[in-house]
Parts: sequence; C-alpha cells; structure tokens
Amino acid sequence: MAARSLLSLVLVVACVLVEEAQNAVAITLSSRLVHRFSDEAKALRASRSTGDAKLVEDEARLSSSVSVPFPSEGSDTASFGNDFGWLHYTWIDIGTPNVSFLVALDTGSDLLWVPCDCVKCAPLSATYYSNTLDRDLNEYSPSGSNTSKHVSCSHELCTASPNCKSPKQPCPYTVEYFSENTSTSGLLVEDVLHLVSGGDDASNNSIRAPVIIGCGMKQSGGYLDGIAPDGLMGLGLGEISVPTFLAKAGLTANSFSICIDDEGSGRIFFGDQGPNTQQSTSFLPSNGNYETYIVGVEACCIGNSCLKQTSFRALVDSGTSFTFLPEEVYDKIAVEFDKRVNATIAVMQNLLGSTAIIPVLKNFPKCLL
Ligand SMILES: *[C@@H]1O[C@H](CO)[C@@H](O)[C@H](O)[C@H]1NC(C)=O
Ligand SMILES: *[C@@H]1O[C@H](CO)[C@@H](O)[C@H](O)[C@H]1NC(C)=O
Ligand SMILES: *[C@@H]1O[C@H](CO)[C@@H](O)[C@H](O)[C@H]1NC(C)=O
Ligand SMILES: *[C@@H]1O[C@H](CO)[C@@H](O)[C@H](O)[C@H]1NC(C)=O
Ligand SMILES: *[C@@H]1O[C@H](CO)[C@@H](O)[C@H](O)[C@H]1NC(C)=O
Repeated sequence: MAARSLLSLVLVVACVLVEEAQNAVAITLSSRLVHRFSDEAKALRASRSTGDAKLVEDEARLSSSVSVPFPSEGSDTASFGNDFGWLHYTWIDIGTPNVSFLVALDTGSDLLWVPCDCVKCAPLSATYYSNTLDRDLNEYSPSGSNTSKHVSCSHELCTASPNCKSPKQPCPYTVEYFSENTSTSGLLVEDVLHLVSGGDDASNNSIRAPVIIGCGMKQSGGYLDGIAPDGLMGLGLGEISVPTFLAKAGLTANSFSICIDDEGSGRIFFGDQGPNTQQSTSFLPSNGNYETYIVGVEACCIGNSCLKQTSFRALVDSGTSFTFLPEEVYDKIAVEFDKRVNATIAVMQNLLGSTAIIPVLKNFPKCLL
C-alpha cells in the first residue's frame, strides 16, 4: 500500500487474476530468492566450503556478526485471502507488558501503526472475522505500557510539527494511502518492539528494540473494511520505518527479507542480506531521491518469448494485492496471452469491486517479468 504521495509512480490500469485449478498464479517475478536458512542455502554453503578453509572462516565470522532477528511471535507470515484484503501479515509484540498485533507487512509505506485508544477502529473481535482468526485482535494504549514514551512535536521525526500549538505537545500524525479514502491518524509514541535473534546456532536471544509507532486512533476507508484491521508495519526506506530504526540502533544491517511461497505463507527477517550467491538489482531514484523500492523491469516474457518495448519502472509494494502494469505494456501482454491461450473466458463481476477476467484452463503459460 503506497502512501498517497507516491501515486505518480504507479501506472494503474487493470487487474488480472489468473487461476489454474487450485493454484492462483498471477505474474511471477523471475528472479529467484534463496533464503539464508533454507536447505538450499545450507547446501550451497556446504558445497562451497569444502576444500576452502578461508571461505569457511569468512562464513563463520559472517554468521556470528550478522544478526537477523524476527518478531518475538515467530518469523512466520500468513495471508488470509479476501477476508483481510489479500495482504501478508505477521504477529508482533509491542510494549511492557507486551501486547500482540497482527500487522500487515507493507514495503510501500514507512510507519508502523496499530489500533490504539480507539475513536474509529476496525472491529477487533475474532468472531467478527468468522473462521479467519483463532484469537481476538488487540488495541494498544500508551497508558497501559510502562515502556511507552511520548513523542513531542519538537521531535525530528514529527512531520506535523508546523501544525502544533506548542513544541511539547504530543506529535499528531496522519498517513493517507493509495487506496481511496484509506488513512490512519493519531499520535506518535515510542515503545519497544519485541524481537528474537535466531541464527544458525539455534539459540534465541530476545531483543527489545525501541521504535516510534503510530497510535492509530482513527482509521478510514479500507482500514475499517477488512484491510489491516490490527495495524500495519511500514517497511519502506523512510526514517520512521522499523528496518531503519533497527539499523540506526546498530541491531541489524539496514535490510530485511520477506519470502512468500505459492500458498501465501512465508517468513520475515530483519537485517537479512541473503547468501553471497543471491542476485541483486539496484533500486532506482524517483525525482532524485531513494524513497521507495523502485526497480527497472527489462522486459515481460510469456513462455519463452520476451516482448519488445515492455520495459518499465515498478514499485515493489507488498501492500498492494495485485500487479499493475502500464497500459501499453498490459496491451502487449494481453495480445500475446490471447494468442497462446485456448480458453473459455469467464467474466466475473464484483470481485473486489472490479472486473477480473478468469481464464479457465489447463497448462497455463507463465508470464515472467
Ligand atoms: C527460536 O525461535 C523459533 C521461533 O519462535 C523457534 O521455532 C525455535 O524453536 C527457537 N529456538 C530455540 C533454541 O529456542
Ligand atoms: C513494567 O512492567 C513490567 C511487567 O508488567 C514489570 O515487570 C516492570 O517492573 C515494570 N517496569 C517499571 C519500570 O515499572
Ligand atoms: C509477552 O508476555 C507474555 C505474558 O506476560 C510472556 O509470557 C512473554 O514472554 C512475553 N514476550 C516477550 C517477547 O516479552
Ligand atoms: C471517498 O470520500 C469521498 C468524500 O467523502 C466520497 O465522495 C467518495 O465516495 C469516497 N470513495 C470511496 C471509494 O469510498
Ligand atoms: C481448443 O479448444 C477447443 C474447444 O475446447 C478444442 O476443440 C481444440 O482442440 C483446442 N485446440 C487446441 C490447439 O488445444
């Protein structure tokens, strides 16, 4: 979910939901991610280390100095489908005594906010979300946490300070998101985020990382309607995002990884820089600044053939459910797709308020970016 100021970067045209039997496969990024703790990465390390003592030494040094913590409730992420707006979520603990929140993971924005001293929040009772949740969602209150600290208008991260009456007053915030009328507002508060540092040696250390969070008193739009009912963790490049706080406190490298499988479950690690063999691509600036995760897509390929003039700049946004393409690129892909697909096309109305085209067929060609 990109914050509204980033709107100009995203060319929104149409959304295509592609379904093959039970397997929902939309557009696949062809770059492969190998997680550092995966069997594959371990195998790679093992094969590289045989007969190379220097490398083994380097690896050992690397794994002891680099900390890759994950939320204290576990590194697992989950998707709850349409019930929770098709986003990816994880449980986090905040405050003392700790309170748990099921937050949406959003690379398209920066602030971590949770429902708090609610004036207008989404329903939090598990029964409201029939069969999706096994426990009630929580509301945060700074007065209930003895590690919470007031963030005043004079704080360097208080962007609303021009509207403050006094520099000592609590810093208000409002963030508007790309989805229409969707926003959160309230006060900034400092508190601890509970993390666990795991590693190859399997010992876990608990970390209490000070972060600034949004005490979300008033939400609107999608946030009252099934999207991120229990808050959202912005993972962007901004000063106020959790990865930035962790890096500035010297707790982790300024990086993180989210790996998600075809079924929608996955893992998140802070400070993860992946195995040495991992391929990378550079982020691109927007108006001269590196504010969001923008990458250059070289070409779109269907089956084995890559289409000409289908390069574009894309925002990598875990908080947007569907892949949006520039219209001229979408048109080229659609034409090529139709040529290769011998399918019955069913038009489904009212899916997420729009129209999606669902080809029903076997041996679906994969579309790679
Ligand atoms: C470390 O934490 C993870 C996730 O909570 C857990 O699965 C694992 O068993 C823990 N390891 C130890 C040694 O406690
Ligand atoms: C904060 O709360 C925790 C748990 O309720 C308690 O153990 C701790 O002593 C408290 N700390 C202070 C400074 O009051
Ligand atoms: C959170 O609180 C529960 C109950 O007080 C406690 O058992 C657990 O260890 C706490 N977790 C962390 C990460 O402090
Ligand atoms: C957004 O808010 C405006 C003004 O309140 C309203 O006219 C419009 O219908 C809203 N749009 C949606 C999608 O709710
Ligand atoms: C395309 O679909 C039609 C109707 O299902 C079928 O008769 C035909 O054999 C198919 N052609 C190919 C090339 O698969």
